[in-house]
Amino acid sequence: MRKKLMAANWKMYKTPDQTRDFFRDFLPLISDHTRDEIAICPPFVCVPAAVDAAKESNIAIGGQNLHWEKEGAYTGEVSAGILLATGCTHVIIGHSERRQYFGETDDTVNLKLKTALEAGLTPIVCVGEVLEEREAGLTTPQLAAEAHVLIRGEAAKAFGDKMAESLRILYGGSVKPENAKSLMSEEEIDGALVGGASLSATSFAAIIKY
Ligand code: PGA
Repeated sequence: MRKKLMAANWKMYKTPDQTRDFFRDFLPLISDHTRDEIAICPPFVCVPAAVDAAKESNIAIGGQNLHWEKEGAYTGEVSAGILLATGCTHVIIGHSERRQYFGETDDTVNLKLKTALEAGLTPIVCVGEVLEEREAGLTTPQLAAEAHVLIRGEAAKAFGDKMAESLRILYGGSVKPENAKSLMSEEEIDGALVGGASLSATSFAAIIKY
């Protein structure tokens, strides 16, 4: 049985002070929670505050992006080494917003994935969207689970059954306290990547404790 990963993607929300406030409220709510792994991916500049606040807890901290080069003249970018040095253990790669607004392609996503794996960061790779269904409000846990079966099948073809079997495939897209239980009850769904609903300590905690 794969342990689920419940990951927060804060996108471009929260300052360091707001990060500390979040952890003050969040930690007591999940301190006894061991069923799932928890990761929070704040904006880069909030990583030190998050790492410090999460020190004595079971919460991992991740970046929302990385560059594949070790270092160099890449204004605005952050390397795997910088993420590791600030205490990150996870990193989101190839989010649909990065593909849509910042020109990321499968090629750059591949470079980033290889870099993250070599550095020992746990990558949260975003691989696609069932946009039409989502926009129409039609994404059901069953549809999501079917998509996950498909993804696991592709992973098996590319990397073998054993690797595919150990792969955690998270669901992301409007996960909320109200739908977390039905989504997470699907055996093929190995966790969630939560955006908007992870910004409030009570709602992210409720999702984790679905
Ligand atoms: P959402 O974001 O939960 O706000 O839909 C998820 C994501 O895009 O990471």
